[in-house]
Amino acid sequence: MLNADIEKVLVDEKQLDEITTRLAKQIDEDYKDTKNRLVMVCILKGSLMFMSDLMKKVTVPVEIDCMKVSSYGRGTTSTGSINIYLDLIRPDIEECDLLIIEDIVDSGNTLSYLTKYLKNRGAKSVRTCTLLDKPSRREVEYTPDYVGLEIPDEFVIGYGLDYAERYRALPYIGVLKPSVYMQK
Ligand code: IMP
Ligand code: MG
Repeated sequence: MLNADIEKVLVDEKQLDEITTRLAKQIDEDYKDTKNRLVMVCILKGSLMFMSDLMKKVTVPVEIDCMKVSSYGRGTTSTGSINIYLDLIRPDIEECDLLIIEDIVDSGNTLSYLTKYLKNRGAKSVRTCTLLDKPSRREVEYTPDYVGLEIPDEFVIGYGLDYAERYRALPYIGVLKPSVYMQK
């Protein structure tokens, strides 16, 4: 049954499955000849479900790691500044192809900052893979390397994404009823 706070389902489980299958094939193709260690870096917490589904379908050898960075706080507008709460701790970063796995690109601040930061730390390469992209919301010019789906400017939740820490466990991407944030 649909969660009572959800206005509509934007991306259902079947579409999510198709998206991760397509992205995994692209990743396999692009990294099949690399001599470096491929590390998928999950940006916590929003990318947990996406990364776990995606990595099961990638067949080239892959290692995993996690980072936690600031995003929205409690509301639905971006703060612009990025804080790193959990850093990537690897002594071998200079031997790695890093593939940052993100739930959604909005202003572009998070991924443009993280890409520069991890390149500066000496990674062999840094690419980004996002499940969702809202290109109409960019504040900085930024194009992710892999995009699951472009969506319009709507605040979405589910499949890892939250509103004030809620709805992450839903198996689909949905749009909240406006009444949910009005009452806050
Ligand atoms: P950016 O730095 O503005 O691109 O922000 C990206 C981060 O903002 C994402 O990792 C999400 O945590 C959060 N975010 C952006 N749009 C949404 C949304 O529609 N729903 C939930 N979180 C979002
Ligand atoms: Mg996030």
